[in-house]
Amino acid sequence: MKNYTAYNNVIIACDFSSAERTYDFLKSFGDMRPYLKIGMELFYAEGPKIVRELKDMGFPLFLDLKLHDIPNTVKKAMAVLSSLDVDMCNLHAAGTIDMMKAAIEGLTRSDGTRPLLLAVTQLTSTSEERMQKELLISCKMSEVVTHYALNAMQAGLDGVVCSPLEAQIVKQKCGQKFLTVTPGVRFAESAVNDQVRVTTPAMAHELGSDYIVVGRPVTAADNPQEAYIRCLKEFNNL
Ligand code: C5P
Repeated sequence: MKNYTAYNNVIIACDFSSAERTYDFLKSFGDMRPYLKIGMELFYAEGPKIVRELKDMGFPLFLDLKLHDIPNTVKKAMAVLSSLDVDMCNLHAAGTIDMMKAAIEGLTRSDGTRPLLLAVTQLTSTSEERMQKELLISCKMSEVVTHYALNAMQAGLDGVVCSPLEAQIVKQKCGQKFLTVTPGVRFAESAVNDQVRVTTPAMAHELGSDYIVVGRPVTAADNPQEAYIRCLKEFNNL
């Protein structure tokens, strides 16, 4: 099989309820070590143990816990996440620039290294209409996303989690080096589920996403490895 390790930019969302289900799912990948995302469900079920185990097995990890609290609490929590040696973690930009700066402080180890830190702008399940009606944020979605991205950049973060549909405008405002990690990816023929702002892997590439996060199109596929490789190929134009 072709070696795809040079293209570790498709992150599989391991939204499973237990370590057992996760390891069962990962069996289909054999020796491949795709980038994995551990979210709230798996982390709350299994705790830091699963993070340490998957790291020891050689999987790059995005710990997606979307922190959002007062700056001091986030700073201390980030110090704990940093000690788990994850590669990427995140918070909600809605927590303000002070909170994001505190997060960077907490995340930075004594030797100056730290995991990548991303800000969630608006969840890809939120439509512009609901944001305006329910959250009383009256701006356009693209304005909110780019404004939050600029706040994140000002606080020293590495990038944002946003819809692929917003990757281009974030890059325009924040520069090419500012990372865009984009969930809300679906194959042309797949179900959208609860996501709203979605694109295909190829379109995400065209729009400038650096990483795509793919959950159900891979985790619910009959052959997860095949679906993952299809994502890698489409996203990297292989
Ligand atoms: O199954 P699906 O492909 O929709 O999974 C997307 C993953 O990305 C989920 O784990 C979800 O929590 C996460 N996510 C998202 N939108 C964000 C941030 C994270 O969908 N803005």
